[in-house]
Formats: sequence, structure tokens, C-alpha cells
Amino acid sequence: MTTRQIFTCILYFGIIISVSCNDLTVNIALNQTNISVSSTSTYEKHNAVDGRFHTGVCFETEINSVSNQWWMITFSKHYFVRSIRILNSQQNANMKNVVFLTSTYSTFDPEHQKYLFTVCNVITKFIDLFESVTKNCLKGPLYSKSVVVKNRNDNSTLTICEIEIWTLRGIDRNIQTVNGMGDNIQSANNDQSKADWIGQLCTWSGRVEPTWWMIDLQKQSEIYAVSLINRVGVLDCLGYLKIIVSNNSADPPPWTPEKKCGSIEAGSFYTTRRCPQNTFGQYLAVFKDVGASELGLTICEIDIFGSSINSSVSVNWVIKSINSINQPKEKIASCNVKDSESIDVSENRKEKIVAELKGVSIISSCKQQAFTLIALSNHDIEDCQLINTANGYYTEVDMLDTCFFECNCKPGYCLRIYLKIFTSKLLSLNRDFFIIVNV
Ligand SMILES: *[C@@H]1O[C@H](CO)[C@@H](O)[C@H](O)[C@H]1NC(C)=O
Ligand SMILES: *[C@@H]1O[C@H](CO)[C@@H](O)[C@H](O)[C@H]1NC(C)=O
Ligand SMILES: *[C@@H]1O[C@H](CO)[C@@H](O)[C@H](O)[C@H]1NC(C)=O
Ligand SMILES: *[C@@H]1O[C@H](CO)[C@@H](O)[C@H](O)[C@H]1NC(C)=O
Ligand SMILES: *[C@@H]1O[C@H](CO)[C@@H](O)[C@H](O)[C@H]1NC(C)=O
Repeated sequence: MTTRQIFTCILYFGIIISVSCNDLTVNIALNQTNISVSSTSTYEKHNAVDGRFHTGVCFETEINSVSNQWWMITFSKHYFVRSIRILNSQQNANMKNVVFLTSTYSTFDPEHQKYLFTVCNVITKFIDLFESVTKNCLKGPLYSKSVVVKNRNDNSTLTICEIEIWTLRGIDRNIQTVNGMGDNIQSANNDQSKADWIGQLCTWSGRVEPTWWMIDLQKQSEIYAVSLINRVGVLDCLGYLKIIVSNNSADPPPWTPEKKCGSIEAGSFYTTRRCPQNTFGQYLAVFKDVGASELGLTICEIDIFGSSINSSVSVNWVIKSINSINQPKEKIASCNVKDSESIDVSENRKEKIVAELKGVSIISSCKQQAFTLIALSNHDIEDCQLINTANGYYTEVDMLDTCFFECNCKPGYCLRIYLKIFTSKLLSLNRDFFIIVNV
């Protein structure tokens, strides 16, 4: 048995405190405080992000003549918004035509500054009472400082029982190869986040021990984090357990060998565990041992975040200037930069550019030169230098590490920046990369 891992986090106020950083959420919205809404409502706007997936305690606007009501969250910094899950209440039968918008701005008026928004996606079918839906942003992750949920219907309420926003990829949703004890075992990863027992959208093992739920992810996977939604009212059903990963067993857990992703003591509404770095495997289980609790095991929803083998490379470019969100990338095949992606920075006429390459678990790969950044200037082509790294695995909500590259284009200025990835040198299964070009 390994002891529970404790990491030291350095917070931005200059205070160093010791906390268990593997508890850190990967849901960018959770417990954020900067929320604004279009009109006053009877229901708290923070109910949407409180980590309680109870369909009776929601944010809801009043029905009035205000059309296109909205709810907006502003983050403390920019994140790449990949996907959004929203949970309907037990009473809003009109949950449709709701749009998710993102912006790189934090001050605006969603009603009058439409041009500052990018549509992530739209809910076009009715979401039933108690149900939730996950939408990926249509054009890939959007670099965002704020997210708006807007009702396109007139004279109807906007309801958000809970909203979750992620940069990480969920790799378990709707996979059928699950197993476990008791009732509704398919409900754990059916993308329904409701935490009430009604409708049988949570699993329950019965009062047995040991007890477990497991999933065959069907592919060798690297697992970064696991979030669990608990049933309201019986919190210890999702406590006193461990989350384990293995390669070679379709047998019931516990497994030999197994790797522990994390453990949970007393249950809470919504819990996230970060697996130790380099947690690989095909099977994942939530396991409660004999004597853990008399209540059995309940999972209302499990979300497993990670990468699977053979994922294809995706690079998301951002030029940090005031009005560019997702820059189109170009694939160019000239001699030095064959098979690379690039972006035009000529407009900015910079002699020197720092580019931030971001991704989960990329620092060792950066040091192994799995990535080459090249600057094309009006006089030369030159490699950019790796000047620094920042490990975000245990400290950032999006878990992204950063590798800082400095590109020198003196005496001229930079025309294009190229990125070349040597996949054989990558030390992680992650294939999702983001580049912020600071001009
Ligand atoms: C979120 O806020 C709720 C209510 O204040 C609190 O109980 C919960 O522990 C918080 N969750 C996290 C992960 O900080
Ligand atoms: C919304 O409701 C108000 C009050 O009932 C009504 O006057 C108005 O015409 C309605 N608007 C629409 C677009 O239905
Ligand atoms: C909160 O969001 C508003 C925009 O809605 C913005 O003007 C303000 O600066 C934000 N406050 C903080 C502390 O980030
Ligand atoms: C699964 O296999 C991979 C590749 O051989 C290995 O790196 C990893 O440690 C194994 N995982 C476990 C939990 O044994
Ligand atoms: C993954 O890629 C490897 C090597 O490129 C290939 O041999 C294997 O069949 C692929 N597996 C899947 C499931 O596509």
C-alpha cells in the first residue's frame, strides 16, 4: 500500500500551503465565483456550479418578458473549453434552443456585443427533466475567458442545475463494456449527471462487501483524473474506496498488478482524484473493500479523463492578440519544415516571440526534443529554444503543462512559426497540444 500522496502547492498569493492536490477538480466551472446573469432570479446563480447535482436545487430565471436570458461565468484566466455538460431541473420542460458561447473577454454584455462571442455549440433537442447533455465545442477547444449559456426562446426560463466545463477529454462516456454488482451498472458512465435516485440514473451495489464497478476502456489508455458524482443523501455510498487501474484483467477487482489512481475517504457530493503521472492501463475500477461501509457503492456518474493509444495529433493555435480566438492553421511542406503546422505572425513584426506549448504531461517530451518550433523570418529559418517549463499536472485545473520556447528573428522580424512533432519521441499517450503565440 502506498501512502496517500500529498503535494505542496504554491498559490499565487505568495503563501505556501500543504494540501492534497490530487483532490483538485478538473471541472473549470466548479465553485467559480464570478457569475453574472441577465435578470434577477429567485434562484441562486451559484447553484449552477456548486458541485451538487440535485435537480431540485438549481439556477433558474423567472418567466418574464425578458427574452434570451443568459448566465455567464468569468474565469480568473483563459482556458481551452473543449466540452460542456449541463443538467436540467425536475421542472423545466422547455430546455431547448440553448446556446453555449465563449469569449476571450471578461467584460461585455452578451445582448449587445454579439461579435465578441464564438458559438461553442447549441442544444437543439429537448433535454428531458432530470437529464443532462454534453456538448463538445464544434470547432475544437475554444480559448476562453468566459462562457455564456443563453436561452434563445422568448418567455421561458433558463435553467442550469449544474454545469461542468472541461479542457480534458472524457474517455469513458457510453462505453458499454462495464461490469459491477447490483443495479443500473450502465448508469455510471451514461453521461447522466443527476444525483437523485429517481429515474435510476445511479448505480447501486446493494449492501454487500467487498463491492466494485469496473470499465474496460477497450484500449491501452493513460488516465489523468477521475471525477465521481455522488447520490444526494447517502454520501458514504461513494466513500471509503479506491480507484484502481490495470492492464490485464477482465476479472473482478482487486487486481494484481494494479496501480492506484487515488482513494476517497468520507464521501462528498463531487470528488476528483488525479492519478499519479504515468498511470497506464485498459481497465479501471472503483473498489470498496470489506468493512469499508455498510451502505454499498453508488455511482451517479463517473468521468474518466485521459488519452487512448492511437489518438491522432491535434494542435490548437492561439495568437495572443486582442481579437483572435482560434487561428486557422496551415500545413506546409517545404524542405526544413516538412510535415509541420504553422501560423502566420508577419503582421505583428516581432523580432522575438515567446510561444507556450501546452499539453498534459509534456515536459519530459519537450526535454527529449519531441517538439521542434521553428521561426521563419525575412532573412532566415531558425529553431526556437526551450527556455522554461511549468508543471501543471497537480496544480492547474486543466492539468496542462507548459513548455516555453523563445524564437529569435533578429535582425528582421518573424513571418511564421512552425511546429513539428516527432511522435516516436513522445513519452505520453497525450496527442492534444495547444500553442499560445505571444505577440
Ligand atoms: C465547492 O463549494 C461547496 C459549497 O461551498 C463546498 O462544499 C465544496 O467542498 C466545494 N468543492 C470543492 C471541490 O472545492
Ligand atoms: C411574452 O409574455 C408577455 C407577457 O405575457 C407578452 O406580452 C409578450 O407578447 C410575450 N412575448 C412573446 C415573444 O411571446
Ligand atoms: C468578473 O466578471 C466581470 C465581467 O462579467 C469582469 O468585469 C470582472 O473583472 C470580473 N472580476 C474578476 C475579479 O475577475
Ligand atoms: C500497463 O502496461 C503499460 C505498457 O506496458 C505499462 O507501462 C503500465 O505500467 C501497465 N499498467 C499497470 C497498471 O500495470
Ligand atoms: C494502434 O497503432 C498501432 C501501431 O501504429 C497498430 O499496430 C494498432 O493496430 C493500432 N490499434 C488500434 C486499436 O487501432
